[in-house]
Amino acid sequence: MTTRRLQSTSEDIKTAAALLQAGQLVAIPTETVYGLAANALDKDAVASIFVAKGRPQDNPLIVHIGELEQLNSLVTDIPDIAEKLAKAFWPGPLTMIFKKNDCVPSIVSANLDTVAIRFPVHPIARQIINASGCPLAAPSANVSGSPSPTTAQHVKNDLDGRIAAIVDGGACEVGVESTVLSVLGDTPRLLRPGGITVSMIESVIGPITIDPAVTHQRQKDAVVASPGMKYKHYSPKAKVILLNGSAEKVTSYINAHAEEDTWALCFEGEEQGLTVPYLTYGKRDNQEDQAKHVFDALRHADEVGAKILYTSCPSQEGVGLAVYNRLLRAAAFEVIHLEE
Ligand code: TXA
Ligand code: MG
Repeated sequence: MTTRRLQSTSEDIKTAAALLQAGQLVAIPTETVYGLAANALDKDAVASIFVAKGRPQDNPLIVHIGELEQLNSLVTDIPDIAEKLAKAFWPGPLTMIFKKNDCVPSIVSANLDTVAIRFPVHPIARQIINASGCPLAAPSANVSGSPSPTTAQHVKNDLDGRIAAIVDGGACEVGVESTVLSVLGDTPRLLRPGGITVSMIESVIGPITIDPAVTHQRQKDAVVASPGMKYKHYSPKAKVILLNGSAEKVTSYINAHAEEDTWALCFEGEEQGLTVPYLTYGKRDNQEDQAKHVFDALRHADEVGAKILYTSCPSQEGVGLAVYNRLLRAAAFEVIHLEE
């Protein structure tokens, strides 16, 4: 199939909406990363998402809404805390897990009785959802296992010829996927850190639990709250190794351990003294900037043929927790702590 390249003109938005109504797959920009969208209420369309991405069937999808009222028909109950969080952060990069209504096909939620709902703030995403008239199931628009796409070109590299269209909305603002929070049970639980930070959430609803899988490797057959957490994810072809330490320690470690096709992925401004080629992903103290560039940098590392990618370990403050969580998975949890 030929993948059409669409822009954000009203005509192209209509075309994208018509393709979605016809059960086709369309990649759309959001404020976090590009999503691979299908009509969430059409189980055949949703099934084709899993095929196009090569995604394991037991990894549930997020349903995207274009207006708050759409939530009511998709879930059976809206807890008070969810209402407060929706008021504070929707539309925006927060996904909440609710009890699922029967109208949502079980393939969307991988047979769980819950469903993940997100109300994106990106104007093009909202326009497409609203023009299509249906909620849209949309995982990140990458081939399963590769870094999430933050530009239309990333999507094209992964999915050209496998989907009906890509809507180009430029580079994504946040750069890492949405925060996923379960609002079920007694204490809300963070399943995936993202653009809406723990302290932002806690300022609205008080203390939340952070699922151990956010920062730690789970045992092979441990039961996980969110199936997505058990996959390696965000994994470039290069072997990623996180180095936790000052710029000087990181530089001297890399120089001492450089082999053929070793690259560094360091913070901007910390390149001096490296004897290997390098990429950067934002300044050490600018977590937002790191989030915006981290996936592009991982993709770039593959393009230049890096075999080993020594990466400066980000702090876990604010959005940094999301960057750390993604890099930890890219590194298959391999972190080397350099003595300070
Ligand atoms: O920012 C985002 O969330 C992007 C854009 C496109 O909106 N989407 C995205 O989707 O990142 P995906 O499929 O790559 O990640 C969805 C995550 C997975 O880790 C999945 O396991 C989790 O959400 N999830 C989905 N439904 C769930 C459920 N019912 N219970 C627990 N976790 C769920
Ligand atoms: Mg994904």
